[in-house]
Amino acid sequence: MHRLQLFPSILTADWSRIGEEIRAVTPYVDGFHLDVMDGHYVENLTFGPTLVEAVRRSCDLPLHVHLMITDPAKYAKDFADAGADRISFHPEVVPDAAAVITTIRDAGAGAGIAVLPEGKLGALSQNLAEIDVVLMMTVRPGFGGQGFLTEALPNVARVRAMIQERDSSADIEVDGGVKLPTLDAAVQAGGNIMVSGSGIYDGIDARAAARTLRQRLDQLDAAAAG
Ligand code: DX5
Ligand code: ZN
Repeated sequence: MHRLQLFPSILTADWSRIGEEIRAVTPYVDGFHLDVMDGHYVENLTFGPTLVEAVRRSCDLPLHVHLMITDPAKYAKDFADAGADRISFHPEVVPDAAAVITTIRDAGAGAGIAVLPEGKLGALSQNLAEIDVVLMMTVRPGFGGQGFLTEALPNVARVRAMIQERDSSADIEVDGGVKLPTLDAAVQAGGNIMVSGSGIYDGIDARAAARTLRQRLDQLDAAAAG
């Protein structure tokens, strides 16, 4: 298991050959990030548990489902049963984030809270002890291919400090606009799982792009090891 992990988002992958897209990059990645959008929480619609099952059949790596939906508790078990290893949700749309975390964990998946680029950290702070991953958004949720929002980086650093102060083992997954030019800043702010969608899948050579990002993460890992 790498200290710094790479999770491609399949949002901009070619879904007509999703199995090939998945297998092309598996030698260089630590899992996959699956963006579920319901057209209500965000102005976009993507996929449900059926595509998660297809990805599950294509590889054995961990699958992190990112629920950009208004009722995460209602569908958590469906995504866990489809093969999600972790499920992250946006707490601002639910009355009780702790109850959603319990629902996700009772379904057998790890739980994560998503934080918007300049989002408040209240719900995260109240529930940090119960979650496995903090999903730090560095774009506005809803679409791949957006620019990296550097104004989100202080929030990433605040969450890294909170995790260290409370001796939490939660990962920090940085999500949105992560490519070679923004990778170092995302790591230096405190992220340890890098999500890259259009940095890997956007009509480019996905295998080569994943390999390049992995090579840079290996260099950053080595530098941190001293
Ligand atoms: C945006 C999603 C991100 C996005 C990442 O709402 O949560 O996972 O797809 O894609 P890129 O890397 O292209 O920003
Ligand atoms: Zn995402």
